[in-house]
Amino acid sequence: MKQENYSLLAHNTFGIDVKAACFLEYHSVDELRGLIEQGFIVKPYLHIGGGSNLLFTKDYPGTILHSCIDGMEVVDENDEEVQVRVGAGVEWDRFVAECVQRGWYGAENLSLIPGEVGASAVQNIGAYGVEVKDLITSVMTVNIRGEERVYSVEECKYAYRNSIFKSADMKDVFVTYVCFRLSKQERYTLDYGTIRRELERYDGITLETVRRVIIDIRESKLPDPKVMGNAGSFFMNPIVPAEQFRALQQEYPDMPFYELADGRVKIPAGWMIDRCGWKGKSLGAAAVHDKQALVLVNCGGATGSDIIALSDAVRASVREKFGIDIHPEVCLIYDL
Ligand code: EPU
Repeated sequence: MKQENYSLLAHNTFGIDVKAACFLEYHSVDELRGLIEQGFIVKPYLHIGGGSNLLFTKDYPGTILHSCIDGMEVVDENDEEVQVRVGAGVEWDRFVAECVQRGWYGAENLSLIPGEVGASAVQNIGAYGVEVKDLITSVMTVNIRGEERVYSVEECKYAYRNSIFKSADMKDVFVTYVCFRLSKQERYTLDYGTIRRELERYDGITLETVRRVIIDIRESKLPDPKVMGNAGSFFMNPIVPAEQFRALQQEYPDMPFYELADGRVKIPAGWMIDRCGWKGKSLGAAAVHDKQALVLVNCGGATGSDIIALSDAVRASVREKFGIDIHPEVCLIYDL
């Protein structure tokens, strides 16, 4: 389906009112191939998912592509695990809910993350001690020439909020399906933050209660994009060398941190932004969320430039106070 001069308001959770010169949606690999063969997909183009991790700064002069490929199919199964192939256009949390309902373990900590299955594999979404790369077995794609290719999880080169699909030379590769492996045997990841403590309010630990606890934690900290435009964490948590962290720790003994396997240390940007006094503060129509300083919100009618002005001011404060550069996690759509 091709639409011209199309409003992207319903396609970005920041609620930025911009238009795309052309908007194309497809429901199958064949339909995508057809669009390619008919010459509909010409540069500049940008493939989006649920629009929950991007910020438009102006009208998009080219073509925005969106996958509506649906479906969830079991492709392999034994007593211990199940492998499923899920369409890129499936809403992420619908997939998680389905796994929980069917008694498949692994995805429950990723409950309520906004967005779609295709983008989850591009972005390597993660929360509460689990990253989607832990569940992915392969990613199926079609490129701009209509050629299909399956990437094994190793080929995806997953890292913190990163994958091969985010590199500049992969912009002409579109994810069509993602294959996941889930466990049929009871196993949970409960050591992040307050999960275990929150579970004590329930009778037992089950997939349903873990999902409930994760949803409660998220709802208490993260604003609902339907109520207040936002794209979740606006910044990535910076990773610094051990020596730099030790020096900071001398000055800020209560600074939270996660040690990585390679010895470097990840520091929560939200904590630093909070310490800079930004929590709940606004600049024009953009604000730092009052319950989680890592999230920037649209107070109503903000433009992409308003959000970026706030982001720049926050980054400058963190640089000045902690000597650390923080970088947006959200994709900023400036140019082509
Ligand atoms: N903190 C503060 N003040 C704040 C925010 C955080 O002091 O305003 C402190 C917290 O008390 C905690 C630490 O910073 O000690 C970390 O905070 P939290 O556990 O809330 O997680 P995060 O580092 O802020 C990351 C992900 C989230 C994910 C959570 C839970 C990134 C960029 N963000 O946030 O992902 O839900 O962990 O695992 O890695 C997203 O990507 O959109 C997202 C929400």
